[in-house]
Amino acid sequence: MKGPGVGADPPRSVVPRRDTHLPFALPDITEEEIRAVTAVLRSGWITTGPEVKAFELEFASYIGVTHAVAVNSCTAALHLALEALGVGEGDEVLTSTVTFTATAEVAEYLGARSRFVDVERDTLNLSSDRLRDVIAREYARRDGVWRHRDTGGRLRAIVPVHYAGHPCDMDALFAIAEEYELKVVDDAAHALPASLGGRRIGALGCPTAFSFYATKTLTTGEGGMFCTDDDALAERVRLMSLHGINRDAWKRYAADGSWSYEVVDAGYKYNLTDIAAAIGRVQLRRVEQMLERRRAIAARYDQEFASVPEVEVPSVRSDVHHAWHLYPLRLNLKRLRIDRARFIEELRKRQIGASVHFIPLHRQTFYSRRYGYQPVDFPVAEQEYPRFVSLPIYSRMSERDVESVTAAVGDIVQESRA
Ligand SMILES: Cc1ncc(COP(=O)(O)O)c(C=O)c1O
Repeated sequence: MKGPGVGADPPRSVVPRRDTHLPFALPDITEEEIRAVTAVLRSGWITTGPEVKAFELEFASYIGVTHAVAVNSCTAALHLALEALGVGEGDEVLTSTVTFTATAEVAEYLGARSRFVDVERDTLNLSSDRLRDVIAREYARRDGVWRHRDTGGRLRAIVPVHYAGHPCDMDALFAIAEEYELKVVDDAAHALPASLGGRRIGALGCPTAFSFYATKTLTTGEGGMFCTDDDALAERVRLMSLHGINRDAWKRYAADGSWSYEVVDAGYKYNLTDIAAAIGRVQLRRVEQMLERRRAIAARYDQEFASVPEVEVPSVRSDVHHAWHLYPLRLNLKRLRIDRARFIEELRKRQIGASVHFIPLHRQTFYSRRYGYQPVDFPVAEQEYPRFVSLPIYSRMSERDVESVTAAVGDIVQESRA
């Protein structure tokens, strides 16, 4: 046990309690982002235009992918990806139950069904073993396609989620996709920048959606990016991201633009603004540095909590680079006299913000009512869900902030040992 954090009997008085609240997350915005936004505001062009174009090119080059299409959320990118792949009425899409509703709701937008699968115990990522079980048990090949035995729905796609920023076992998932002729749409909302076997998430060969929501390592307030190497897919996503119009406003209103445009489909209004893209371009230049800080905080938490049997630190597999979007600590509830809700309340009393990622989707009202999910079908998620607490982890945290978190955890553990 090192430092003033936790352990067998942490020295409670070493780190004084905070007198200000430590938010669960804060965006890392510097004067550089503010200057970039100001320049756009002064430029006379504030919606999708040259900043977005530059952001797309820079992002694609950073990831190592052919196309990047900027949109106003990861949800939009996921929706457009499934749409572009032709997912629609009567189709079924398999995803993890430990994710945010955005991952699953997009299939529902298209009249398809999101079907949930249990997770791996160590990473809380979609389990390829459970995925195989679900497909073998619930689907059968009829007339050349895999259909659900009860609903007749056609199995079309898998949407893996790199939970907390820990890459999924994509080789195993790609093997299943190939065997069952499924598309893979990668929900990389947490996974910028992360890599697997030396390759960046986003450059693994499947369409990928990133999030630039306010809590993410790279933020534009709200925003997202769709990435692919497939020209036709990129073209469809771009078209549908702006009303299904074959020429974007920037090209029409620019000095050398033409007034003419053609509506070729009923698209969506998912474009990113130049104001947001200007923030994104600066953030992209700072992304490695911001990740480095998150990594250092995770390492510090790992070190401080390693010798505390009342908690379990996130495990990281050997061939991955974690994005550390979240730091989900797990409580060993048998060793504590309090539950997770009380643990979070105790953190709050000590001025530390915390959160839970996520209430498994099979428990959520909409999905459980519509599809009648049973907790028994998700033994790992059910067992782990009451245990996870996401601690603050973001680049603006000072050493003192980090210490105040480890001290608070130590204090609570000491007070609440079973
Ligand atoms: C796993 C996951 N997927 C998708 C999203 C949606 O991201 P956005 O808010 O950019 O639409 C989130 C949001 O945090 C998420 O956690």
